[in-house]
Amino acid sequence: MSTKLTTTGATIPPGLTELLEEFAVTVLREHPTDLVSFAASYFTNLREENARNSSSSQKGSQRAGPAPNSEENQMESESMATDTPAPREMGENDSDDDDLPSDDYRTAMAYRRRSVFAEAYVPGGDEETDKIVHPKTDEQRRRLVEAVKKIFLFKSLDQEQLNEVLDAMFEKEVVPGEKIIEQGDDGDNFYVIDSGQYDCLQTQQSGGEPKLVFQYDGQGFFGELALMYNTPRAATVIATTPGTIWGLDRKTFKRILCESTSKKRSTYKQFLESVPMLTSLEPYELLNLADALERKYYSNGDCIIKEGDAADSFYIVENGNVEITREDTSGKKVFLNSCTRGQYFGELALLTHKPRAASVHAKGDVVCAALDVGAFERLLGPCIDLMRRNISNYEEQLVQLFGESFDISDAR
Ligand code: CMP
Ligand code: CMP
Repeated sequence: MSTKLTTTGATIPPGLTELLEEFAVTVLREHPTDLVSFAASYFTNLREENARNSSSSQKGSQRAGPAPNSEENQMESESMATDTPAPREMGENDSDDDDLPSDDYRTAMAYRRRSVFAEAYVPGGDEETDKIVHPKTDEQRRRLVEAVKKIFLFKSLDQEQLNEVLDAMFEKEVVPGEKIIEQGDDGDNFYVIDSGQYDCLQTQQSGGEPKLVFQYDGQGFFGELALMYNTPRAATVIATTPGTIWGLDRKTFKRILCESTSKKRSTYKQFLESVPMLTSLEPYELLNLADALERKYYSNGDCIIKEGDAADSFYIVENGNVEITREDTSGKKVFLNSCTRGQYFGELALLTHKPRAASVHAKGDVVCAALDVGAFERLLGPCIDLMRRNISNYEEQLVQLFGESFDISDAR
């Protein structure tokens, strides 16, 4: 059992998903000037590291982790395998270090050393299972429950897991200017925001002033990347107002929250990168979007959206085909459009705050990635202009098909 089939029938070699995922995180963190050279150094170093590991294990030296092709490693890889295409095969010339710009080369080498691939998240791994409990008052517990309610990472937990995580979380008050996380440090805790505002700053690999990459306002979480991938902190997080955050220790995060988060991110990463409408999102914004998506399955004829209903979700087709229709004055269904993999629907009512303008039905088996209205507004901000521009196409189509114009463009 060494391979896995994707929903499209392609075969995924074990380990591929993790390999690409760790590489992507390193790129996200480092912003190399020459991506191809950086990749060449990175994978060359990985190959050398694997060769060293395998020769030292053949010599009977102490075993630090599963060998790249061991059954243990395969099981780990399979449990993480997702819909990810195979990378280009590396040729012999790719390992010629002399051709590489020295900065990217050194950074890639340093990152392979610092980032402990064999220790990247292992489902059911050897993390200690001692439960950590930070006692809380009823008022603290209530605030904590409210704070995590809005966070998608917690939605996949069962009640027992959720209680264990809530027990382990500890409250921390912060003052303006306080640095909660510093870029480059080792990851200790994961944090959920209870209140306050926070800036997330990142210094590029090329140096210079730190750039503001994200601002948190009273909700959300940060500090998951270093814990998930055993890499240094990707950015600095500073409180800009007084506030309160909830910390969760690394071990409890890895044991309970890491598996579902990491699986979901790797499941959606490749797909979301291929969706034309999402090209304006940054890599980290795509990861946040992946956290928020909910996979929905439909059979032939199922009604996904009903014309006239109130809107609650936005959809991207992952697989299959949907048909969009609108009723004319006599109640007859008129075909408007169809959507296939990578295309979206259900945005109009969310943008206009009006009832659904058309019905959407599954044609055959369909898989969609659904986003609730709150996440749509919060995470798809940079794509909204693009969606709004498309509304005039809908209007033209309705005029052509029905001979009259409809008031659907009242987008706020
Ligand atoms: P981590 O690397 O553990 O610590 C810094 C955190 O900043 C990181 O996890 C993310 O949770 C958060 N963050 C917010 N925006 C970004 C971004 N654009 N790139 C990387 N990390 C980000
Ligand atoms: P919404 O109104 O939320 O739900 C029905 C969806 O059908 C709508 O969003 C659009 O995404 C989609 N659609 C496709 N073509 C049209 C069209 N010509 N007019 C209105 N909606 C359309």
